[in-house]
Amino acid sequence: MRRPIIAGNWKMYKTPSEAVDFVKRLLEAASTAGGVEVVVAPPFPALMPVREALAGSDIALAAQNMFWEVEGAFTGEVSPVMLAEIGCRYVILGHSERRRYFGETNAGVNRKARAALDRGLVPIVCVGESLAEREFGLTEKVVTAQVEECLAGLAPAAVAVMVVAYEPIWAIGTGRTASPEDAQDACAHIRRLVARLFGPEAAERLRIQYGGSVKPDNTRDLMSRPDIDGALVGGASLKVEGFAGIVRECQKAVQS
Ligand code: PGA
Repeated sequence: MRRPIIAGNWKMYKTPSEAVDFVKRLLEAASTAGGVEVVVAPPFPALMPVREALAGSDIALAAQNMFWEVEGAFTGEVSPVMLAEIGCRYVILGHSERRRYFGETNAGVNRKARAALDRGLVPIVCVGESLAEREFGLTEKVVTAQVEECLAGLAPAAVAVMVVAYEPIWAIGTGRTASPEDAQDACAHIRRLVARLFGPEAAERLRIQYGGSVKPDNTRDLMSRPDIDGALVGGASLKVEGFAGIVRECQKAVQS
Protein backbone atom coordinates (compact mmCIF):
# COMPACT_ATOMS: atom_id res chain seq x y z
CA MET A 1 0.00 0.00 0.00
CA ARG A 2 1.44 3.37 -0.98
CA ARG A 3 0.91 6.19 1.49
CA PRO A 4 -0.58 9.18 -0.35
CA ILE A 5 1.41 12.40 -0.19
CA ILE A 6 -0.13 15.86 -0.34
CA ALA A 7 2.48 18.56 -0.86
CA GLY A 8 1.87 22.32 -0.84
CA ASN A 9 4.15 24.14 -3.26
CA TRP A 10 4.03 27.75 -2.11
CA LYS A 11 6.16 29.01 -5.02
CA MET A 12 7.32 32.60 -4.41
CA TYR A 13 4.62 33.34 -1.85
CA LYS A 14 4.81 33.97 1.90
CA THR A 15 7.50 35.76 3.84
CA PRO A 16 9.03 33.86 6.79
CA SER A 17 6.58 35.40 9.27
CA GLU A 18 3.58 34.69 7.03
CA ALA A 19 4.81 31.14 6.55
CA VAL A 20 5.15 30.51 10.30
CA ASP A 21 1.70 31.95 10.95
CA PHE A 22 0.31 29.68 8.21
CA VAL A 23 1.78 26.45 9.56
CA LYS A 24 0.64 27.22 13.09
CA ARG A 25 -2.91 27.51 11.80
CA LEU A 26 -2.45 24.46 9.56
CA LEU A 27 -1.41 22.35 12.54
CA GLU A 28 -4.72 23.22 14.21
CA ALA A 29 -6.79 22.63 11.07
CA ALA A 30 -5.28 19.51 9.51
CA SER A 31 -4.89 16.28 11.33
CA THR A 32 -2.13 14.26 9.73
CA ALA A 33 -3.59 11.04 11.05
CA GLY A 34 -5.54 9.06 8.49
CA GLY A 35 -2.77 7.62 6.39
CA VAL A 36 -1.89 10.72 4.38
CA GLU A 37 1.56 12.31 4.43
CA VAL A 38 1.50 16.12 4.43
CA VAL A 39 4.39 18.24 3.13
CA VAL A 40 4.89 21.99 2.79
CA ALA A 41 7.41 23.61 0.43
CA PRO A 42 8.04 27.21 1.50
CA PRO A 43 10.51 29.56 -0.23
CA PHE A 44 14.12 29.22 0.99
CA PRO A 45 14.12 32.03 3.61
CA ALA A 46 11.11 30.46 5.35
CA LEU A 47 12.47 26.90 5.55
CA MET A 48 14.18 27.20 8.93
CA PRO A 49 11.46 29.12 10.77
CA VAL A 50 8.84 26.76 9.34
CA ARG A 51 10.86 23.75 10.44
CA GLU A 52 10.88 25.16 13.97
CA ALA A 53 7.14 25.79 13.88
CA LEU A 54 6.59 22.20 12.68
CA ALA A 55 8.79 20.61 15.37
CA GLY A 56 7.08 17.59 16.89
CA SER A 57 4.46 17.40 14.12
CA ASP A 58 4.17 14.89 11.27
CA ILE A 59 4.21 17.54 8.56
CA ALA A 60 7.38 17.26 6.46
CA LEU A 61 9.40 20.02 4.87
CA ALA A 62 10.35 20.34 1.21
CA ALA A 63 12.51 22.79 -0.71
CA GLN A 64 11.36 23.97 -4.13
CA ASN A 65 14.71 23.59 -5.86
CA MET A 66 18.43 23.01 -5.25
CA PHE A 67 21.72 22.76 -7.14
CA TRP A 68 23.50 19.44 -7.70
CA GLU A 69 26.88 20.38 -6.24
CA VAL A 70 27.62 19.98 -2.54
CA GLU A 71 29.44 23.32 -2.27
CA GLY A 72 31.46 25.70 -4.40
CA ALA A 73 31.54 29.01 -6.22
CA PHE A 74 27.94 28.91 -7.47
CA THR A 75 26.51 32.28 -6.51
CA GLY A 76 22.85 32.17 -5.66
CA GLU A 77 22.58 28.39 -5.39
CA VAL A 78 21.67 26.12 -2.48
CA SER A 79 23.09 22.63 -2.03
CA PRO A 80 21.48 19.34 -1.00
CA VAL A 81 23.71 19.17 2.08
CA MET A 82 22.41 22.53 3.27
CA LEU A 83 18.80 21.45 2.77
CA ALA A 84 19.35 18.15 4.54
CA GLU A 85 21.03 19.85 7.49
CA ILE A 86 18.11 22.20 8.09
CA GLY A 87 15.64 19.33 8.13
CA CYS A 88 14.22 19.14 4.61
CA ARG A 89 13.00 15.69 3.74
CA TYR A 90 11.89 16.41 0.17
CA VAL A 91 12.99 18.62 -2.70
CA ILE A 92 10.81 19.51 -5.69
CA LEU A 93 12.81 19.19 -8.91
CA GLY A 94 12.03 20.17 -12.49
CA HIS A 95 8.81 22.06 -11.83
CA SER A 96 7.47 23.42 -15.13
CA GLU A 97 8.03 26.99 -13.90
CA ARG A 98 11.70 26.18 -13.37
CA ARG A 99 11.89 24.60 -16.81
CA ARG A 100 10.15 27.59 -18.39
CA TYR A 101 11.74 30.56 -16.60
CA PHE A 102 15.09 29.17 -15.49
CA GLY A 103 16.03 26.88 -18.35
CA GLU A 104 15.94 23.59 -16.43
CA THR A 105 16.39 20.49 -18.55
CA ASN A 106 15.75 16.80 -17.98
CA ALA A 107 19.52 16.23 -17.81
CA GLY A 108 19.85 18.87 -15.10
CA VAL A 109 16.93 17.40 -13.17
CA ASN A 110 18.66 14.02 -13.38
CA ARG A 111 21.86 15.41 -11.86
CA LYS A 112 19.85 17.10 -9.14
CA ALA A 113 17.87 13.93 -8.40
CA ARG A 114 21.07 11.91 -7.99
CA ALA A 115 22.61 14.57 -5.74
CA ALA A 116 19.45 14.78 -3.63
CA LEU A 117 19.27 11.01 -3.15
CA ASP A 118 23.00 10.88 -2.29
CA ARG A 119 22.34 13.29 0.58
CA GLY A 120 19.21 11.59 1.86
CA LEU A 121 16.69 13.97 0.33
CA VAL A 122 13.68 12.53 -1.49
CA PRO A 123 13.16 14.14 -4.91
CA ILE A 124 9.69 15.05 -6.12
CA VAL A 125 10.36 15.06 -9.86
CA CYS A 126 7.82 17.02 -11.92
CA VAL A 127 6.83 16.01 -15.44
CA GLY A 128 3.94 16.97 -17.71
CA GLU A 129 2.98 18.03 -21.20
CA SER A 130 2.01 21.44 -22.60
CA LEU A 131 -1.41 22.14 -24.07
CA ALA A 132 -0.09 21.94 -27.65
CA GLU A 133 1.56 18.60 -26.90
CA ARG A 134 -1.69 17.24 -25.47
CA GLU A 135 -3.67 18.49 -28.46
CA PHE A 136 -1.24 16.81 -30.85
CA GLY A 137 -1.62 13.53 -28.93
CA LEU A 138 1.95 13.68 -27.66
CA THR A 139 1.29 13.39 -23.92
CA GLU A 140 2.68 9.87 -23.50
CA LYS A 141 5.67 10.56 -25.72
CA VAL A 142 6.63 13.73 -23.84
CA VAL A 143 6.10 12.23 -20.40
CA THR A 144 8.05 9.11 -21.39
CA ALA A 145 11.07 11.16 -22.44
CA GLN A 146 10.89 13.24 -19.25
CA VAL A 147 10.73 10.20 -16.97
CA GLU A 148 13.45 8.32 -18.88
CA GLU A 149 15.82 11.28 -18.84
CA CYS A 150 15.11 12.60 -15.33
CA LEU A 151 15.44 9.15 -13.74
CA ALA A 152 18.27 7.84 -15.97
CA GLY A 153 20.82 5.70 -14.16
CA LEU A 154 19.06 5.69 -10.79
CA ALA A 155 19.03 2.48 -8.79
CA PRO A 156 15.62 0.77 -8.58
CA ALA A 157 15.76 1.08 -4.78
CA ALA A 158 16.14 4.86 -5.14
CA VAL A 159 13.27 5.12 -7.59
CA ALA A 160 11.11 3.16 -5.16
CA VAL A 161 11.36 5.86 -2.48
CA MET A 162 10.96 8.88 -4.71
CA VAL A 163 7.92 10.78 -5.87
CA VAL A 164 6.99 11.73 -9.44
CA ALA A 165 4.48 14.54 -9.87
CA TYR A 166 2.48 14.42 -13.08
CA GLU A 167 1.54 18.03 -13.74
CA PRO A 168 0.07 18.87 -17.14
CA ILE A 169 1.32 22.42 -17.75
CA TRP A 170 -2.06 23.60 -19.05
CA ALA A 171 -3.65 22.67 -15.71
CA ILE A 172 -1.19 24.57 -13.50
CA GLY A 173 -2.65 27.72 -12.02
CA THR A 174 -5.35 27.85 -14.68
CA GLY A 175 -8.33 26.41 -12.82
CA ARG A 176 -8.46 23.73 -15.55
CA THR A 177 -7.95 20.39 -13.82
CA ALA A 178 -7.22 17.28 -15.85
CA SER A 179 -10.18 14.93 -15.71
CA PRO A 180 -9.63 12.15 -13.17
CA GLU A 181 -9.62 9.68 -16.08
CA ASP A 182 -6.91 11.56 -17.99
CA ALA A 183 -4.85 12.06 -14.82
CA GLN A 184 -5.17 8.36 -13.98
CA ASP A 185 -4.19 7.36 -17.54
CA ALA A 186 -1.04 9.49 -17.42
CA CYS A 187 -0.08 8.24 -13.93
CA ALA A 188 -0.69 4.61 -14.98
CA HIS A 189 1.48 5.21 -18.03
CA ILE A 190 4.28 6.51 -15.79
CA ARG A 191 3.99 3.47 -13.52
CA ARG A 192 4.13 1.03 -16.46
CA LEU A 193 7.15 2.86 -17.81
CA VAL A 194 8.91 2.75 -14.43
CA ALA A 195 8.14 -0.98 -14.22
CA ARG A 196 9.79 -1.47 -17.60
CA LEU A 197 12.83 0.66 -16.70
CA PHE A 198 13.36 -0.21 -13.04
CA GLY A 199 11.34 -3.35 -12.38
CA PRO A 200 7.94 -4.08 -10.86
CA GLU A 201 8.90 -3.50 -7.24
CA ALA A 202 10.15 0.05 -7.82
CA ALA A 203 7.01 0.78 -9.86
CA GLU A 204 4.75 -0.61 -7.18
CA ARG A 205 6.37 1.50 -4.44
CA LEU A 206 6.91 4.76 -6.38
CA ARG A 207 4.40 7.42 -5.40
CA ILE A 208 2.91 9.40 -8.28
CA GLN A 209 1.18 12.68 -7.53
CA TYR A 210 -1.18 14.61 -9.75
CA GLY A 211 -0.76 18.39 -9.84
CA GLY A 212 -2.67 21.16 -11.59
CA SER A 213 -5.56 23.14 -10.09
CA VAL A 214 -6.21 20.64 -7.29
CA LYS A 215 -8.87 21.97 -4.91
CA PRO A 216 -10.85 20.43 -2.05
CA ASP A 217 -13.81 19.71 -4.33
CA ASN A 218 -11.87 17.76 -6.97
CA THR A 219 -9.46 15.98 -4.62
CA ARG A 220 -11.52 12.96 -3.68
CA ASP A 221 -12.29 11.85 -7.22
CA LEU A 222 -8.67 12.24 -8.29
CA MET A 223 -7.28 10.54 -5.19
CA SER A 224 -9.55 7.53 -5.46
CA ARG A 225 -7.88 6.52 -8.76
CA PRO A 226 -5.54 3.54 -8.41
CA ASP A 227 -2.35 5.12 -9.74
CA ILE A 228 -2.71 8.60 -8.19
CA ASP A 229 -0.96 8.67 -4.82
CA GLY A 230 -1.41 12.26 -3.78
CA ALA A 231 -1.23 15.79 -5.08
CA LEU A 232 1.22 18.61 -5.63
CA VAL A 233 -0.84 21.68 -4.84
CA GLY A 234 0.01 25.27 -5.75
CA GLY A 235 -2.68 27.94 -5.42
CA ALA A 236 -4.98 26.05 -3.07
CA SER A 237 -2.09 25.31 -0.69
CA LEU A 238 -1.72 29.02 0.15
CA LYS A 239 -4.92 29.14 2.20
CA VAL A 240 -5.18 27.09 5.38
CA GLU A 241 -8.77 26.06 4.68
CA GLY A 242 -8.04 25.04 1.11
CA PHE A 243 -4.98 22.99 1.99
CA ALA A 244 -6.53 21.38 5.08
CA GLY A 245 -9.62 20.62 2.98
CA ILE A 246 -7.50 18.83 0.37
CA VAL A 247 -5.80 16.78 3.10
CA ARG A 248 -9.19 15.81 4.57
CA GLU A 249 -10.62 14.86 1.17
CA CYS A 250 -7.57 12.72 0.48
CA GLN A 251 -8.01 11.01 3.85
CA LYS A 252 -11.61 10.23 2.90
CA ALA A 253 -10.49 8.79 -0.45
CA VAL A 254 -7.99 6.55 1.36
CA GLN A 255 -10.55 5.36 3.86
CA SER A 256 -13.31 4.62 1.33
P1 PGA B 1 -1.76 24.88 -8.99
O1 PGA B 1 -0.18 24.62 -9.11
O2 PGA B 1 -2.29 23.96 -7.94
O3 PGA B 1 -1.88 26.32 -8.62
O4 PGA B 1 -2.35 24.59 -10.35
C1 PGA B 1 0.34 23.31 -9.06
C2 PGA B 1 1.84 23.36 -9.13
O5 PGA B 1 2.39 24.25 -9.77
O6 PGA B 1 2.52 22.49 -8.53
